[in-house]
Amino acid sequence: MTTPAISVSGLRKEYKDKTVLDGVDFDVHAGTVFCLLGPNGAGKTTTVNVLTTLVQADGGTVRVAGHDLATDARAVRAAIGVTGQFAAVDELLTGRENLQLMVDLNRRVAGDGARIVADLLDRFELAASADKPTSTYSGGMRRKLDLAMTLVGGPRIIFLDEPTTGLDPRSRRTLWSIVRELVADGATIFLTTQYLEEADQLADRLAVLERGRLVAQGTPDELKRLIPGTHVRLRFANAAELDAAAGVFPEAARDDDALALRVPADGGTQSLRALLDRLDEHSLSAEECSVRTPDLDDVFLALTGHTTEVDTK
Ligand SMILES: Nc1ncnc2c1ncn2[C@@H]1O[C@H](COP(=O)(O)OP(=O)(O)OP(=O)(O)O)[C@@H](O)[C@H]1O
Ligand SMILES: [Mg+2]
Repeated sequence: MTTPAISVSGLRKEYKDKTVLDGVDFDVHAGTVFCLLGPNGAGKTTTVNVLTTLVQADGGTVRVAGHDLATDARAVRAAIGVTGQFAAVDELLTGRENLQLMVDLNRRVAGDGARIVADLLDRFELAASADKPTSTYSGGMRRKLDLAMTLVGGPRIIFLDEPTTGLDPRSRRTLWSIVRELVADGATIFLTTQYLEEADQLADRLAVLERGRLVAQGTPDELKRLIPGTHVRLRFANAAELDAAAGVFPEAARDDDALALRVPADGGTQSLRALLDRLDEHSLSAEECSVRTPDLDDVFLALTGHTTEVDTK
């Protein structure tokens, strides 16, 4: 077994008397994407801030790139790149100048700074606006520039806090393909997101954070298996038909308000045909028939109790 790129054990963080991280444990293996999901206020950004040395933990141990955060924060900083939740772009500079600034600040980049800047501008589809001040950029363009700036030194472990919030669907896909390229090159990505589809697309493993505790972690498929499986939803015209159908499908769960039945089924055409034949045999017909497969949204809602923390400070 290789050493994990990130290893977190018993991580705690308090602000005044409020516990924000309450004993968080996880490992991220090198060359993989780890995704931290959670509702607003769950502690995602706090986790990123601790792991990237911006904020000090109150307990637990964290190792990043083999270095202990508590004793060797400088070595950790040298190994990582961070894109924060809020864009770190300097508005007075152009896109090119922002990137050049990162090159100048980065001792790992020798000589070929101009080429790196040009490559990143291309890759993030910012070349056409490269010489305009970023104060004229849209939110999504700023977000992309911010990400490009993170990649200047070629960091091996990259933290992205909600990198695609505010990006349009095409830019989001551009970012996903960049993340996949980085991982194919051996980088490790630690990502937070509100978009479950994104976690599903990118993550090798993901963890769901809720009020400072991890309530689940695993592969996307493992998490999907935690909740009720694939079923066919049949909606009927009236209560009498629903009653009759419930007699035909005793294995189904019924939802009287919606006049619907949820019949467990594997989603394949054969089981669907058998189900429709059974309806036919009893001269029943449904108003609507849909196949539902659990997705990460279902997992998220089931695990986080539908709540979003409201801060009362
Ligand atoms: N500097 C701080 N001082 C006091 N409380 C803080 C501080 N930073 C964060 N918190 C609190 O910690 C909790 C977790 O915040 P955090 O920003 O980590 O959440 P998040 O999961 O990133 O949420 P979001 O999805 O909204 O970005 C919140 O209740 C927040 O109010
Ligand atoms: Mg956050």
